[in-house]
Amino acid sequence: MGNNTVTIRDNTTGKTIDCPVKQGTLGHPVIDSRALPNELGMFTFDPAFVTTASCESAITYIDGEKGILLHRGYPIEQLAKKSTYLEVCYLLLNGELPKSDEMQTFQKGICRFSVLHEGILNFFNGFRRDAHPMAMLVGVVGGLSSYYHDEMDINNPEHRDLCAKRIIGKMPTIAAKCLRYTLGRGYVDPRYDLNYVENFFNMMFSMPNKRDDVDPVAVKALEIMLILHADHEQNASTSTVRLAGSSQANPYACISAGIATLWGAAHGGANEAVIQMLNDIGDPKNIPNYIEKVKNKEVRLMGFGHRVYKNFDPRAKIIHDVCHQLLECLDDSQRPLFDIALELERIALEDEYFIERKLYPNVDFYSGIILNALNIPTSMFTVMFAVARSAGWIAQWKEMLEEPGMKIGRPRQLYIGADVRDYVPMDQR
Ligand code: CMC
Repeated sequence: MGNNTVTIRDNTTGKTIDCPVKQGTLGHPVIDSRALPNELGMFTFDPAFVTTASCESAITYIDGEKGILLHRGYPIEQLAKKSTYLEVCYLLLNGELPKSDEMQTFQKGICRFSVLHEGILNFFNGFRRDAHPMAMLVGVVGGLSSYYHDEMDINNPEHRDLCAKRIIGKMPTIAAKCLRYTLGRGYVDPRYDLNYVENFFNMMFSMPNKRDDVDPVAVKALEIMLILHADHEQNASTSTVRLAGSSQANPYACISAGIATLWGAAHGGANEAVIQMLNDIGDPKNIPNYIEKVKNKEVRLMGFGHRVYKNFDPRAKIIHDVCHQLLECLDDSQRPLFDIALELERIALEDEYFIERKLYPNVDFYSGIILNALNIPTSMFTVMFAVARSAGWIAQWKEMLEEPGMKIGRPRQLYIGADVRDYVPMDQR
């Protein structure tokens, strides 16, 4: 960690303080400003946490300038090419890639937890058929806490492991049920003879006449999509999960809070917004008009830009190739949307407005197109992202609870409201 310090001087009083500088394994050093309130009577001001490291973490590393994403040190490109989503889940949770027997035990555990209690399935009957699947997901995942009281002691490491496996096991089952409920189709039980992604597909799409019909190209595309979305360090939803967990809330409530945060169009809702945008554009000839609207700041180009990646999103590079492979097998009905996407990508990458602001297609530009090609309804896109990200959320939640001296999260504020004043009786206002 080194002995470097940064001196902060209050120019009004002349008082100075030496703040320790902490250096992680990789990345920018951080100034430890925790002594500021006691020494200088001041806090730091950083709306939207643009410059604040909220925790120490050994799970994921991102270098936004160089377009690097590592999970436990392993580059995302290698994981996407050589690994499976479940193996990445194990890695995120345990810090190391599993040996063969460890993987088998993990896989069996996840399978065991994939089934839903009949009572949980009944939750769905309370939702309207046209409810947004994210509304169902946020409610049902939070509701899991009503079923597992006896195995929810957050101070018990075995319980924490169980909760992690239960979340990873049940997320695809709940997601598939959300889809089928919307479509008016009956629930399909998980199958232990299929792998995680095949099973997910089967639960979503199986029909009495094509039960075993899972397309391997589609399975591979979804596997990669899940890997690419599994974790992304301290983004808005993960920070929400950590903040909720820091109050010692149960893990299902914390994951539900993460799902709620993911829902927004600036975060996980972007993949859904991409398809809506492509449909609004309707035809490649309308793109120049749309780009004008973007430049006039009437609309944002959904699926472009990122808070951290300012040169390129490494996940977008990988998923771009998968997207192209998948789209070679497209039927004609999906072609027009993809043609608009390609043209938009080309124009935006060449236009000075986007180059200047470092706005590149992000992972969700392509994930929306892939999910669309997989016949997953647009309203389900953020649910698919939530299934993938549940691994990262629960790994980050566990890491936080395992930290010695973990404290409840409590940001400060710069108060800009009224000064102290006396209450005025109603008839004198
Ligand atoms: N389209 C058009 N202009 C944009 C966009 C966009 N998508 N994103 C940023 N800008 C412009 C913005 O208007 C501003 O311009 P100016 O300097 O002239 O005022 C400049 O770029 C900087 O914008 P910002 O809002 O300060 O950038 P940010 O880092 O806070 O925003 C973002 C990051 C992801 C919220 C934003 O780029 C955005 O809204 N993108 C569209 C939504 C999206 O695709 N989100 C998915 C992100 S990837 C999945 C995930 O990790 O959750």
